[in-house]
Amino acid sequence: MKVTVVGAGNVGATCADVLAYREVANEIVLVDIKEGFAEGKALDIWQKAPIDLYDSRTIGATNDYSKSAGSDVVVITSGLPRKPGMSRDDLIGTNAGIVKSVTENVVKHSPNAIIIVVSNPLDVMTYQAHLTSKFPRTRVIGMAGILDTARYRAFLAEALNVSPKDIQAILMGGHGDTMVPLPRYTTVAGIPVTELIDKDKLNAILERTKVGGGELVKLMGTSAWYAPGSAAAQMVEAIVKDQRRVFPACIKLEGEYGINDCYLGVPVILGKNGVEKVIELDLNSEEKALLEASRKAVKEVMDVLQKLG
Ligand SMILES: NC(=O)c1ccc[n+]([C@@H]2O[C@H](COP(=O)([O-])OP(=O)(O)OC[C@H]3O[C@@H](n4cnc5c(N)ncnc54)[C@H](O)[C@@H]3O)[C@@H](O)[C@H]2O)c1
Repeated sequence: MKVTVVGAGNVGATCADVLAYREVANEIVLVDIKEGFAEGKALDIWQKAPIDLYDSRTIGATNDYSKSAGSDVVVITSGLPRKPGMSRDDLIGTNAGIVKSVTENVVKHSPNAIIIVVSNPLDVMTYQAHLTSKFPRTRVIGMAGILDTARYRAFLAEALNVSPKDIQAILMGGHGDTMVPLPRYTTVAGIPVTELIDKDKLNAILERTKVGGGELVKLMGTSAWYAPGSAAAQMVEAIVKDQRRVFPACIKLEGEYGINDCYLGVPVILGKNGVEKVIELDLNSEEKALLEASRKAVKEVMDVLQKLG
């Protein structure tokens, strides 16, 4: 199996490192536009192999996509991250151009790949990659839901003083302040979370989750990478090993949840063909209204992209 990660910055290098460490693919290619950067990161990860005992090979390339040829999965992390005070949507002008040119190269050299988009604004960059690649929608998937859900699960584990391993949850919608929390689908080892935590505390955790990315941007001056890199690697693993894992992921909706032509996070089954199935939950009226607000917010940014041409 061969996996390429485009963008050898914070998120891309972390993703490649997790993929190598977990031996998800035997060949992992890192590509970046900055001269020597991907080569250096790939060499550093390879030199960790004798210490951490893995045999996945990591190879770096400066803008040379021939090295990535025939990849089974390509993760796109190239693009600017947020700085304090910026919203994800502020990145659209620069990152749309980057994602477009990267996708053109991916299609040329890996026409059968499954693309996982990480660059922000996530839902609209997934749209950009889908438009450019012309791949079926099941092969162009955005990563945000695993990260947002992980943040929520981590906050809950802390509040309840239990292992994060035992918290199961799903969030939906766009990657931003309009994400759709679904507390009635959250359990702690099968116990509904609502039986273990009072409503106000749970609401405070959900509000913190919505701005979880911003909290880290404020602390570090740039956006997060450990959890995002691992989240992208987890999606790659589900595809490469045909695990049929159930995750929230961004995909173009074609009638599911009564929504058409919009890219939103929904629960999906991930396997060797990419999205094997979109799972449709029976949302209540409050959840439907939140999803509609999320759809509108994403659609507005999709329109901005269209105007940019
Ligand atoms: N979806 C999510 O949940 C999520 C989470 C965190 C970060 N992000 C996004 O991921 C992206 C990367 O974040 P980061 O922290 O790794 O940033 P970073 O600045 O550390 O890395 C980005 C890399 O992309 C490279 N790059 C730029 N243009 C390129 C091109 N045309 N071809 C190849 N490489 C190119 C840069 O040289 C840089 O090394 C940002 O857009 C960020 O907002 C998304």
